[in-house]
Amino acid sequence: MNFRFCGNSGLQLPLISLGLWHNFGDTDSFSVAKDMIIHAFEQGITHFDLANNYGMPPGSAESNFGKVLKTYLKNHRDEMIVSSKAGHLMWDGPYGDGGSRKYLTASIDQSLKRTGLDYFDIFYSHRYSPETPLEETVQTLIDIVKQGKALYAGLSKYPAGKAYEACEIMKAQNVRCLIYQDKYNLLHRQPEREHFSLFREQGLGFIAFSPLAQGLLTNRYINGIPDGSRAAKPHGFLQKEDIKPDLTEKIKQLNRLAEQRGQSLAQMSLAWLLAKKEVSSVIVGASSVQQLQNNILSINNLIFSSEELNQIELVFR
Ligand SMILES: NC(=O)c1ccc[n+]([C@@H]2O[C@H](COP(=O)([O-])OP(=O)(O)OC[C@H]3O[C@@H](n4cnc5c(N)ncnc54)[C@H](OP(=O)(O)O)[C@@H]3O)[C@@H](O)[C@H]2O)c1
Repeated sequence: MNFRFCGNSGLQLPLISLGLWHNFGDTDSFSVAKDMIIHAFEQGITHFDLANNYGMPPGSAESNFGKVLKTYLKNHRDEMIVSSKAGHLMWDGPYGDGGSRKYLTASIDQSLKRTGLDYFDIFYSHRYSPETPLEETVQTLIDIVKQGKALYAGLSKYPAGKAYEACEIMKAQNVRCLIYQDKYNLLHRQPEREHFSLFREQGLGFIAFSPLAQGLLTNRYINGIPDGSRAAKPHGFLQKEDIKPDLTEKIKQLNRLAEQRGQSLAQMSLAWLLAKKEVSSVIVGASSVQQLQNNILSINNLIFSSEELNQIELVFR
């Protein structure tokens, strides 16, 4: 594994991080989840990304991660960066969603209990909450860091202007906003238009989620929708209807370009992100050790010729 400094901070992140949103809950195989976490760590993936609501049911990914940590990796806590988040609906009533001090404080305490950790390395506001004063959410992140419940604060899915304001509020109280997390992949380019200048101005690290567009940017759906794939499952954000013929055609073209580079499409999609200096790390999801290993090998070729980059852009014209 190679590591990159997270923005202007002294914290290094592995180029590939592992996300536990899907496939690590109680409705999934614990044995496969455990094998993926252990394989990841053995391959130098030191960063594991969680949130209060991950897993089916919500919370179970944190509990299962805690179980694996306690049983198999308990002597390695100091070699790991573990993140969690709060911001989306987690429990009933007005205190289980959004960005209030009440919600974030209760949620991090629950997440620490579920994982069995004394602290998170990074704690995020999971989304911008327009109905909460920004100062309230950010002050809670600052207090969480000052209380030692997290070492660093992060923001996810904030409009660039709001993220900028949040960074300034933190700076005024000598707490660094370490990192910004958002969806970024070949099919979703919004951060490069809206957020990249913010990273440079604020010295923020940037970690890309859904770097494979939930599996679309792999060979998973090239010949239809396989049983057991994310799109075949009834719940979740990737729906069968999302896989339209014109998209499949683009994916096939990308797949041919990946083959010419001697990479799988998943590897080329990750390498394309990691070739950008603004990207500190990418958070991959996986449903098997084989997928994860395939993704890890992307780091062997992160260099693109301008001809290759042009060909990729042409797919989307
Ligand atoms: N901050 C936020 O709001 C937010 C939102 C979403 C995600 N995230 C974070 O980002 C992480 C990753 O998100 P994601 O799961 O959407 O990531 P992703 O890497 O875009 O998609 C992962 C899925 O792609 C398929 N896949 C992965 N590697 C493959 C390979 N080599 N070959 C073929 N298929 C492959 C698998 O699908 P199958 O399951 O079908 O096999 C896997 O479950 C999450 O776990 C979470 O930590 C954060």
